[in-house]
Amino acid sequence: MENKKNGFASGIGFVLSAAGSAIGLGNLWAFPYKAAKGGGAAFVLLYIICVLLIGVVTMLCEFHIGRRAAANPVTAYKRIHKNVGWFGLVGVAIPAFIICYYSVLGGYTVKYTLNSFTGNAGILPTFSTNVGEVILYTAIFAVLALVIIMGGVKDGIERMSKILMPLLFLILLGVAVYSLCLGDGVREGLNFYLNPDFSAVTFSTVLAAMGQAFFSLSLGMGTMISYGSYTGKEINTVKSTAMICIFDTLVALLAGLAVFPAVAHFDPSLLKDAQGVGLMFSILPEVFGSMGAVGQVVSFLFFAMVAIAALTSVVSLVEVVTQLILQRFRVSRRRAALGVTLVCFAVSIPVGISLGRVGIVGEAGISVFGMDLLTFFDEVTNTVLMPASAFFACLVIGWFIGPRDAMREMEDSGTRLGFLKKIFPAMVRFVTPALILVVEVGGVISKIRAGQWFVVVAAYALVGLAAAAYFLFFKKQETGTNADETL
Ligand code: PFF
Repeated sequence: MENKKNGFASGIGFVLSAAGSAIGLGNLWAFPYKAAKGGGAAFVLLYIICVLLIGVVTMLCEFHIGRRAAANPVTAYKRIHKNVGWFGLVGVAIPAFIICYYSVLGGYTVKYTLNSFTGNAGILPTFSTNVGEVILYTAIFAVLALVIIMGGVKDGIERMSKILMPLLFLILLGVAVYSLCLGDGVREGLNFYLNPDFSAVTFSTVLAAMGQAFFSLSLGMGTMISYGSYTGKEINTVKSTAMICIFDTLVALLAGLAVFPAVAHFDPSLLKDAQGVGLMFSILPEVFGSMGAVGQVVSFLFFAMVAIAALTSVVSLVEVVTQLILQRFRVSRRRAALGVTLVCFAVSIPVGISLGRVGIVGEAGISVFGMDLLTFFDEVTNTVLMPASAFFACLVIGWFIGPRDAMREMEDSGTRLGFLKKIFPAMVRFVTPALILVVEVGGVISKIRAGQWFVVVAAYALVGLAAAAYFLFFKKQETGTNADETL
């Protein structure tokens, strides 16, 4: 079978790799503070509803789009209809942008891991504005990802995920237990994180929960299409989807349990600022600093865990772009991966410089209408593009292929749908796309209201560019499949 040659070797390897993509900075860092600000347990509940109503269906669609074509997202969409291949190109363009800022943050986590025994408290303003150091650590992170991608899907991505994901989970569990056993302050920390406050839930909290679900599950970015394309009949995508969503949510919940009790125990006054870049790179190092000698070890383990999570996520982003380049231009995996890494690394340099200068210390520097480049890239991809791309996935399954045929194809390719059979058609045609539209329109309106219209303009310009590029350079050309990858 063509996709067997360079696909995932086992169901568990696939689940761990896709979970590796899903579990990242979004879980360990963004989820806890978004939950704390958005009504605690009320936000958690809302988040779980979003995962169930939007996440599960979209993930299933993306896996199936990839699997039925055993090819990159452009070919996969093109096989559904030749005029919608550009949906796939949008799906590949988004990761290309995310890599450029995700690697900068990945570089930060490498720095903080290695520096744990010297102490990270208070280093953020100096480190983030030290251009040489930021570039160095971003490069280290990018090279780690490159080495894994060059190994291929089975021997690189799958093998790495089978080792790193259990390790990540063990460390997280250990840190959470440690934090919950600290005694004084634990209750206060838990209260800060989870105390249900339904009055804090506004429409923008709902939007935040939906957006967080997309980002956290790596949806709407081609990655799950790409990973799905490397699966064969022996992998049940419904079971895998359920496991990935459960792992992802569990890790996000645990992350809050690891962070807030410790902050409240060592310095409750820090809780009020516990959000954004500051939470991970300024507040937590202070907390580790006040733990004494054990703090160095906890800091090392914690940041190593975050670095692992970021690495397995960035690998999935690089893989999507690499897959397209190698199949479309018929080059080797090594060349394609190297090219993608080099270009993204070059773009990540101004992003890193801008984050430090403009985003962290608040000086003048490279920015887009005053917004640092990392926030700009993040907003463009997450607020507007991601939901659009997830919408495309539901659209083609629900309306182009049709839910009945799609379900038959899924069952033919080894997936048992069980009770989903009853609800899938209505979900994929109406419920999920309608909710995604709410995220898209709500996101656009909130950006315009906040005076950040340039985010919206840039995002839709990118969609236009992707469509134009498709019709000019991809539609008539052969865009390749997984079988084109020579090992
Ligand atoms: N899901 C990752 C996180 O939560 O940090 C980020 C991510 C990885 C987004 C891969 C998108 C993607 F394709």
